[in-house]
Amino acid sequence: MIDTLAFFESRFRELLDHDPEPGSYYRPRPYRNGTVRFRECHMGEFDLRRKLLEEAGLNVFLFPAHRIPGCDLLSDSGTTTMTVEQWSRLILGDEAYGSNEGFFELRDRMVETFGPSWAKRNDVHENFFLFHQGRAAEHALFGIIGRELGAAARAGKDVVSPEALGAELRDRISHGAARAEGAYYIVPNNSHFDTTEGNVEANHMVALNLPCREHLEDRRDFPFRGNIHLENLERLLGAVPDRVPLVYLTITNNTGGGQPVSMENIKKTRALAHRHGVPLFFDACRFAENAWFIKNKEPGYGDRTIASIVHEMFEQVDGFHASFKKDGLVNIGGAILLKPEGLFVEKYPGFADQITDHQILTEGHPTYGGLAGRDLMGLAEGLRTVVHEEYLDARIAQVVRFGEKLRSYDIPVNEPIGGHAVYLDMDRFFEGTRSRDEDFKGVAFTGLLLLGGHRLCELGIYAFGAYRGGREIPPDPRVNNVRASVPRLSYEDQDLFALAEMIRVLHEHRDRIPGVEVTYGRELNLRHFKSRFRFKA
Ligand code: F0G
Repeated sequence: MIDTLAFFESRFRELLDHDPEPGSYYRPRPYRNGTVRFRECHMGEFDLRRKLLEEAGLNVFLFPAHRIPGCDLLSDSGTTTMTVEQWSRLILGDEAYGSNEGFFELRDRMVETFGPSWAKRNDVHENFFLFHQGRAAEHALFGIIGRELGAAARAGKDVVSPEALGAELRDRISHGAARAEGAYYIVPNNSHFDTTEGNVEANHMVALNLPCREHLEDRRDFPFRGNIHLENLERLLGAVPDRVPLVYLTITNNTGGGQPVSMENIKKTRALAHRHGVPLFFDACRFAENAWFIKNKEPGYGDRTIASIVHEMFEQVDGFHASFKKDGLVNIGGAILLKPEGLFVEKYPGFADQITDHQILTEGHPTYGGLAGRDLMGLAEGLRTVVHEEYLDARIAQVVRFGEKLRSYDIPVNEPIGGHAVYLDMDRFFEGTRSRDEDFKGVAFTGLLLLGGHRLCELGIYAFGAYRGGREIPPDPRVNNVRASVPRLSYEDQDLFALAEMIRVLHEHRDRIPGVEVTYGRELNLRHFKSRFRFKA
């Protein structure tokens, strides 16, 4: 009998260790549904969606979510299905106007999550600053840095780019300066997200993207395509260190393809930035997903826990901001954290006073920062869950399965597939058809998919490009993606695979997809949120 049990146990173990082929499953999800939401609409309502699409001017942001019967993959932000543990913490939320219970719980959880070097050391100030979401934190951060440096007064003046920068970087910087209406200071990043870029530029600084060579060369076998380009960063810091207030790494690199940054790249970036006396920051929205890739793809980390990898990652930086609508597993929330003994605090000693002023004027008391006390409880619980390895295994494997499914249909996707989203490459998708940049075919693609009942988002030449002086300025370096961003704990493979079938139909008939003309907002900043379009005849 014992032998029989041992026999079957070993067979079952073999099964679990199997690397599944697409469409097969050897492990169940590490959770089960606690609540479900029935849809108020169905896939057959084409007439209604056609009308709504027209009313929305083909802008996916303006299409009513409750009329989407398929996958709503507009964003993985704020769309997470919370766990029952989180819901139970929400009920226990304390709505005091100052120093509510959730604040203390969250403060402890932050130190537990990001490591002991983030504990408060100062009797007067906290070193963590709450905001209602990520962009509010960015807005405060760059507003204060811009004022401290007098960025507006220097914009457009004495902007000499030394020869030592080399032609490529000089071009990139002048391209970025044109978008920011003349700028002196430069904020380099592996790639800025749209709101980060917007906040940097609004404060008269250049948002400089320096994705690594493997990214630029479309190296599909390279696991860390989110890395920053160290040689270019070195050239920049060597030539104009005083013009760089801060070096950034976005983990994972959302704009570039959701791909991770390696620990090696993080450490080398830190060494380089610190050698030139410049602080290093993370835009840390998807920190746990980044840590999962380090564990699974970077030599030497396979036996480490996700929690310890997160600590090591955050040891390297002087501060970070995050939208907790992603890896906080909550629907709202953001923060800036400063390392008490870090270079940023040393360089900007007045920052804590200025940011708390900003919080009080715009968000609320620093102990709740634009959030309800219950949100803080939910976030503290979310941070506990997000570093569980079995959660991350299931989460990222699902995104990869979806990407592999598309790939098996020859639909061009960015590879390797990133942590939170599959990025469809519109340049390759429409290759061989008669299409020009100003047809904005990515926008047409998302419009047609909405007619089909699913929502994706163009993050390409429309979202990241700009229209200045009657001329389109494409993103630099060029990105032309449509993103399918998978909400956490919300969809099953069946849903994503049904979407893949519809994308396949669009791909098969791609030569019939018309361009769009912009009927409103082409010249606006952050134009993809607001513009309206119609299909060209
Ligand atoms: N940084 C990154 C890398 C992001 O992905 C986002 C948001 C933000 C900052 C801003 O955070 O939304 O809380 O204000 N990304 C979402 C997305 C909106 O769809 O990728 P937020």
